[in-house]
Amino acid sequence: MRTQEGSRLDGGESATADPIAPYGGALVDRVLSEKAAAEVTAEAAELPSLRLAHRVATDLYLLAVGALSPLEGFMDREAYDAVLEGMVLPSGLPWSIPVVLPARSEEAARLRPGHRAALTTAGGRLAAVIDITEVFRRDVERESLAVYGTTDTRHPGVAALQRQGDLYVAGPVHSLGAEAPGEGIADDELLTPAQTRARFRELGWSSVVAFQTRNPIHRAHEYLQKCALEVVDGLLVHPVVGETKEDDVPADLRMRCYRVLLDRYFPPDRVVLSALPLSMRYAGPKEAVFHAIIRQNYGCTHMIVGRDHAGVGDYYGTFDAQRIFDGIDPELLGIRPLKFEHAFWCRVTEQMATSKTSPSKPEERVFLSGTRVREMLARGERPPAEFTRPEVADILIEAFRKS
Ligand code: ADX
Repeated sequence: MRTQEGSRLDGGESATADPIAPYGGALVDRVLSEKAAAEVTAEAAELPSLRLAHRVATDLYLLAVGALSPLEGFMDREAYDAVLEGMVLPSGLPWSIPVVLPARSEEAARLRPGHRAALTTAGGRLAAVIDITEVFRRDVERESLAVYGTTDTRHPGVAALQRQGDLYVAGPVHSLGAEAPGEGIADDELLTPAQTRARFRELGWSSVVAFQTRNPIHRAHEYLQKCALEVVDGLLVHPVVGETKEDDVPADLRMRCYRVLLDRYFPPDRVVLSALPLSMRYAGPKEAVFHAIIRQNYGCTHMIVGRDHAGVGDYYGTFDAQRIFDGIDPELLGIRPLKFEHAFWCRVTEQMATSKTSPSKPEERVFLSGTRVREMLARGERPPAEFTRPEVADILIEAFRKS
């Protein structure tokens, strides 16, 4: 990091270079050329096939475009054990969440190490082939505890694990295309890591902060983004559009909210909006590290980590997702977390603030829970402008009215 420009956080040495190297050094590309894809399509008709649940299809997409570099495919037992036990890959590189391909025993019966299998989407379309290196039995309790810190099946991540098959199929993948799972998102708002990197180079950014989100952007989010933007060159608004919880706002609706907010309240030359076809795990701290690794691959030097990042219910402490980074060697994880306290509108100073910057008492702060906001929107009521920009509130109210 260079410091000669005062408080600016610079990630790279020159504006024409990528702000940061991909995780593990090189961006993986597992998308077949057109010719190879045609050959593989012909071959796939004869292969045993495995139909992917939506959340696995999103992982496959991320593997294919290099968002999970240096992974080239689904993890084998050695990698799975290393991740669960030491939060590392066998190479020693930090890695917090297994990337695995589940199968039920009846599905796995025809899958043999040393052979290929076809991977199809829920709709039956051929998405990729896998060179099977291993089929192994998972340990669901150990995985639940290591990743989610609980075996409580009310936790959405644990519940998703319970729904999957007990075997994991490992091996490198060859994808037929970078077609992302998810509908209603325009190509120019669904950039691959190579494309975000190219965009950052064009913009001349040498430091970029990523904003992970699964929610509409409220004023607290906007405040964190703008604080971060004061010290880095650019912002990547990078909402997850894979599987989320039932009560989370759907991705296409959120995209409309992001657009209207960015158009009106952000300088266009400082922000890139791109959807990330990642399925939420709600694994709190472990997921924060996973999110950061992915954002490094997209070319970001920093990632915002606020209160209860990727949390759900009260499974994690408010700042656990920040603390986990303190135990990771920054020489290994290039991207840096930008940690923020709980943000709110402060009635004393009449601005957004956190407890670091505001002398207010709790009753002098405007903060609403997600449940409270949903209730207001469902009644057709705008939350206070200090909490949500009216343009965003109106889009959400209209959607609630139609649903
Ligand atoms: S998350 O599951 O993607 O983390 P959300 O979209 O709500 O949920 O949050 C996006 C980011 O903003 C996370 O880093 C989160 O910690 C942070 N954040 C959300 N609300 C606040 C807040 N009021 N104060 C501080 N950080 C916040």
